Amino acid sequence: MKMKLPLFLGLLTVTFFQIASAHPLSNPALKSPESASSYRQYCSHCHSGSAPSAPRVGDTKDWSVRLLSGFDYLYHSAIYGIPNTAMLAKGGHPELSDDQIKDLVGYMLISSKVSSVTIEKALKYDGFLIADREFIHLDTNKNAFLEKKELQSENAFLKLFDEFDKNQDTRLSPAEFIDLRSSLELLRQTQNLTDEEIMNQVNATLANVKGMPPSGIRVNSKNGTLSIAGVVGSNTIIDQIWRSIRWIPGIKVIDNRLMTSEMLAFD
Ligand code: HEC
Repeated sequence: MKMKLPLFLGLLTVTFFQIASAHPLSNPALKSPESASSYRQYCSHCHSGSAPSAPRVGDTKDWSVRLLSGFDYLYHSAIYGIPNTAMLAKGGHPELSDDQIKDLVGYMLISSKVSSVTIEKALKYDGFLIADREFIHLDTNKNAFLEKKELQSENAFLKLFDEFDKNQDTRLSPAEFIDLRSSLELLRQTQNLTDEEIMNQVNATLANVKGMPPSGIRVNSKNGTLSIAGVVGSNTIIDQIWRSIRWIPGIKVIDNRLMTSEMLAFD
């Protein structure tokens, strides 16, 4: 049966409209002067200002890479903050609603001119419904699996990779990864080392981390709760410190209070 042209066009428009309205940046209000003004009020002093580690609004490349982790991932960062960085929950404005924050993120992405291809990829990644943020962060090729090459700098994970790749498809699903990490955590927590032994191991490990501040950082272990505190040069060093000590046996909990001088500046 032939379809009449107007009907066909009508169907096309409906489909197009549904697709266009489905993506989070299609809301015209995101381009309004009000959005620009709330951005200036709440977020711009870091994202267009003086926090060197904050992604600059307008930097298409930086925002595109971040958006590949999905809209949900970015909304979560903006609403709950990113630990040990100057990005506090809601940019330090708890009075803003979650929806206001999502709109501000949308405004930042539009102003950074992310492409529709990137938006499609982000929506696809959201569709995998992966909740584990470490998995998403490690999944650099965004195929919803972790291959060995994505875990190259994660020796502890690599060692147990084959054992936890239950269906032996040479990659870890989110569930397989979470099992692996939980098992490492259990292993770490069930070793009974004294606090002194834990601190000795931590200090010995830290001695090999590049970029440590000359005065060092404060390390203390109490009944297996390890706290580390101090001011270091960059977010990358905080990350390296945490990675180097995270699987030291005997540690029950890590209380990471490291900061960068940038965070102090915005306190
Ligand atoms: C005090 C400075 C500061 C303010 C104010 C601030 N941010 Fe940020 N923001 C940062 C820094 C620093 C990062 C980078 C953190 C990182 O990835 O290490 C960041 C990262 C982000 C990211 C990327 C998250 C990711 O997972 O890659 C989003 C989205 C974001 N901010 C949204 C906002 C919004 C929305 C506001 C306003 C409500 C805001 N920020 C206010 C400092 C700030």
